[in-house]
Amino acid sequence: MDDSSPDETDGGHEWVTPPESFVEQANVTAADREAFREAGWPECWRRPGDLLDWGCGFDAVLDEDDGDEGPIRWFPGGRLNASYNCVDRHVEAGRGDETALAWEGKLGETRTYSYRELADEVNAFAAALRELGVEEGDVVTLYLPMIPELPVAMLACARIGAPHSVVFAGFSADALATRLSGADSEYLVTCDGYYRRGAALDLKRRADNACVSVGHAVEQVVVNRLDDDRPVGDHRAYADLVETHAGAEVEPVSRASDDLLFLIYTSGTTGEPTLVRHTTGGYLTHVTWTSHAVLDLGPDDTHWCSADVGWITGHSYAVYGPLALGATTVLYEGTPDHPETDRLWEIIERNGVDVFYTAPTSIRAFMKWGEQHPERHDLSSLRLLGTVGEPIDETAWHWYRNHVGDGRCPVVDTWWQTETGGIVLSTLPGVDRMRPGAVGKSLPGIETVVVDERGHRVADGEAGQLVITRPWPGMARSLCEGTDWGARRTRTVDGQWQYATGDNAVRDEDGYLHLLGRADDVLKVSDRRLSTTEIESAIVGVEGVAEAAVVVGEDDDAVRQSEIHAFVSPESNVAGDDALRGRVRTAVEEAIGPIAAPDAVTFAPSLPKTRSGKVVRRYLAAIANGEDLGDTSALRNPEVVGELESLLDR
Ligand code: WT7
Repeated sequence: MDDSSPDETDGGHEWVTPPESFVEQANVTAADREAFREAGWPECWRRPGDLLDWGCGFDAVLDEDDGDEGPIRWFPGGRLNASYNCVDRHVEAGRGDETALAWEGKLGETRTYSYRELADEVNAFAAALRELGVEEGDVVTLYLPMIPELPVAMLACARIGAPHSVVFAGFSADALATRLSGADSEYLVTCDGYYRRGAALDLKRRADNACVSVGHAVEQVVVNRLDDDRPVGDHRAYADLVETHAGAEVEPVSRASDDLLFLIYTSGTTGEPTLVRHTTGGYLTHVTWTSHAVLDLGPDDTHWCSADVGWITGHSYAVYGPLALGATTVLYEGTPDHPETDRLWEIIERNGVDVFYTAPTSIRAFMKWGEQHPERHDLSSLRLLGTVGEPIDETAWHWYRNHVGDGRCPVVDTWWQTETGGIVLSTLPGVDRMRPGAVGKSLPGIETVVVDERGHRVADGEAGQLVITRPWPGMARSLCEGTDWGARRTRTVDGQWQYATGDNAVRDEDGYLHLLGRADDVLKVSDRRLSTTEIESAIVGVEGVAEAAVVVGEDDDAVRQSEIHAFVSPESNVAGDDALRGRVRTAVEEAIGPIAAPDAVTFAPSLPKTRSGKVVRRYLAAIANGEDLGDTSALRNPEVVGELESLLDR
């Protein structure tokens, strides 16, 4: 049945109206948007705050210091526990038998946890963590693939007030070591290994290698995931701990609203990973509200956010948001094309998934594999589709809506960042018309503008940097404190508070934002976030390399669309050959992980520089993509650009 309104064109733009059947049942209506507007900022955030159970209610929605550097506190006076909100309250409401977590394993196994079973395991593991000596405020690092023990461990940490720091399982031992040291974390939960495309990867060895290079002792808990019974050595086995503490009841620790819920590292503009910290009350309010308002989730829904829990997307929309609302969340360990390219559609069909949230890079892969795969499956349970992580082009948007959403599901394109905690820009699926290729407006309660380099607001239709001009509940705590954020939390020329997102955007006359990519040295390759400087410092560490610069190139492969292109200048008596190319790639894999390894390595006698000696990556990107360079006269060595074109590693 296709009851969506015919696509319209107005003002030269294409609009898609959500179907009446969706609008009628949507959690958030046009009246709710209006209520937000009437309440005014920040008071409008009171209702989202009320979606949570506060052990002690908040005194105010926001406490904002007037000074530029002063702290911002969301829901001051409020106290709560995230694990209570995501687990206990649903059991207390008589929903203990309903499914909290539906896990689909790599080898075709499945496991489900009802809310009661989730409560039992979270309590047992929380008791085990206590026994190991974990106290409120201690950071517990979780280096785990997509297995149910990962959300269980996150919630167990939250229960005892120990902030977790999840490290993506695809990261290298070096990357894990940096994150353990940086967070002063003395506890690590990891596993023996995991399966990737049929092969068993040894995660434990990577974890052990990381621990020896950390300056303090690290206590390890090891989950058994592989079939072989590898000994855990001196470490504690997760299964034993949970068995020993079966039946334990651990009182959820009452946390102040701005106490930390977790830390997460992301790539910033420097050579070191950036530490982002999130609060309990503000963050949980933000992700719960946006799961309710944008993903339209509630207790009857089965939601699947396909992102890895190692990234913040998985924290917010595979774990905290859906569980706080009492929904079922699907967790999938494998890859979309293994064993067959219809694996995802099979999972949606079998679990009756009704809200599916994924990244444009995946959608482009689905397109390449062909619409016969989704069409072979009964996807009629779906009612809403979402995308996140990078811009989605109109072709992919339509393909997703037509071939996955049967032309009837609304599609929400959602823009946000690790620093924002949750969704900031999107359409409200039951309220707003959709514009393929545009992300939508700022959500109610959030204000943004597009500014030029001097901080002046640009006219609609002109490009500039996207800045958020009012604090929002999901904002990272370091941003609330206004400390280590350099120029990102500032005032506009008119004295208005602002957070500079680092993204370029254009706002059109309808207030819809079109995202144009990063304005800084953060790379988005597919939907993964990397830092040019971090990759470059790994490359210059290779013997024989004098200098390096990394840019994003266009990939011939329509799925990834972008690739990492490294320009490397070897020392004078060193040959730029395949052996060096191999060493460059290995160095990046060891420092960060395979996801950051350059796809192309071009050797260059020197790199284009300004007179002050700064490498101009813009020219390198143009060379990598065969674009016109324009005027190169500002360069100290303009002759090098012509030379580079002929040396390109294609
Ligand atoms: C960067 C943030 C994605 C949320 C969690 C991971 C880009 C994100 C969109 C979108 C265009 C997007 C931006 C942003 N981005 N969503 N819908 N359209 N670009 O976020 O790893 O911190 O990356 O992802 O460049 O700054 P992250």
